[in-house]
Amino acid sequence: MIPGKIIWKPIVQKAVTGRARRFRMIPEKPQWPKHLTSPGLYLHVPFCKNLCPYCPYNRIEYEECAFAAYQQAVKQEIDLYAPYLEGMSFPSLYIGGGTPTVNWSGLVSILDHLKRRLGSVGNICVELHPANMDDDCLMALKEAGVTMLSVGVESTSDKLLEQIKRSHDSRTAIHAVERALRIGFESVNVDLMFALPGQSSAEWQADVRTIVDLGVDQLSTYPMFSFPYSDFGKTKGIRQVERPAHHVVKGMLKFTDDYCEGRGLRRCAVWSWLKPGRNKFSSITRHHYIGFGPSAASMTDSDFYVNTFDVDAYVCKLPAERPVAVSMPVNRRIEMAYWLYWRVYELKVLASDFQSVFGADASLESTFGHLLRPLVLMRLLERATDGYHVTTPGAYWIHRLQNEYSLNYINRLWGTCRKTAWPLKVSL
Ligand SMILES: C[S@@+](CC[C@H](N)C(=O)[O-])C[C@H]1O[C@@H](n2cnc3c(N)ncnc32)[C@H](O)[C@@H]1O
Ligand code: SF4
Repeated sequence: MIPGKIIWKPIVQKAVTGRARRFRMIPEKPQWPKHLTSPGLYLHVPFCKNLCPYCPYNRIEYEECAFAAYQQAVKQEIDLYAPYLEGMSFPSLYIGGGTPTVNWSGLVSILDHLKRRLGSVGNICVELHPANMDDDCLMALKEAGVTMLSVGVESTSDKLLEQIKRSHDSRTAIHAVERALRIGFESVNVDLMFALPGQSSAEWQADVRTIVDLGVDQLSTYPMFSFPYSDFGKTKGIRQVERPAHHVVKGMLKFTDDYCEGRGLRRCAVWSWLKPGRNKFSSITRHHYIGFGPSAASMTDSDFYVNTFDVDAYVCKLPAERPVAVSMPVNRRIEMAYWLYWRVYELKVLASDFQSVFGADASLESTFGHLLRPLVLMRLLERATDGYHVTTPGAYWIHRLQNEYSLNYINRLWGTCRKTAWPLKVSL
């Protein structure tokens, strides 16, 4: 770590969250979420047919028996929550992984159970892997009420797909997107990764052109990060999260922005572009959410907590009790900092939105004006009638600053929880 970072990191953390010291998560049971208005829901499916070496997510190789045990346990976890969530409405359910459709009939059965126990859900979004989404699967998802899909294409170059050890080729991925578009969902997003080792600008430009020209509703692009605990990270022997070089990321992003805007897609988040009038595909950008499944996180009005990452330990804990590994209390100020993080990510920080979440007496200016006004002078934000918009340079630089924290918080939390099912403490 650069020595300067040791000094400025706690100062910035204090200015945003009200706390300079590291956050600490411990194995304490969080309160039940009784008083939430419209929380989002998240479901984690921790299985994949092939494990990609760069992947930081909690996933294990798919086995039928392990999936059957998981399927039963996740239904039991939903049952435990059901009495506490009674009467609440759920604007969205995000199903991530792993590869959620690795056993799609199992996923549909979990979805049916969830709707039976918790009532109907607004948008249902599912992450898809191109090799696990045949037409039967897509039709079944549509029938089960899934409205939004996100396909992990990652690259349209067979050379690069092979290099990062994806289990599909470019043709399979492109056909998968075409089939999803043909079957007709409210919104189809495609994920591409960029700044891959050895990737040229021309290769990236071909990726963006190919996918946008298919007519997708949303494009999300992620620079490839290496986490120390991933297989790539272990091979490289790194201790901190490694990012691709600035100039590479900035150059590739500039092309993506110009091309998407030229084709009528508008930037809707730091890494995403969306067709006007479409709903954005996004995971945990909500104020409050409840997560089911191993490693799922939850954010309520009183706690932030994560389930155990270990699939066997998760199955063993249920149905007796919630499989929470570690938690920390949240106060209003932390909730506000969390809100600010995601609003900057979505490029709009609006006073009316702040008040609708925190009450009519909450003031964006008096809470965060001291942080936001200097960013206007630096042209990273611009004033809007009702708050602030993030400028194009701001989308890069402010998010880069956010990454200094979020990637390392994630690295510490996920890195520790992957090592042991029930950690004694995690310092973020
Ligand atoms: C859970 S995966 C999507 C679904 C499916 N498992 C797949 O891989 O196609 C979520 C997305 O995270 C992104 N991603 C995965 N590992 C990454 C890394 N090391 N750096 C940046 N983005 C990454 C990829 O774009 C991927 O599509
Ligand atoms: S990138 Fe997707 S398919 Fe690959 S291991 Fe991670 S979750 Fe599984």
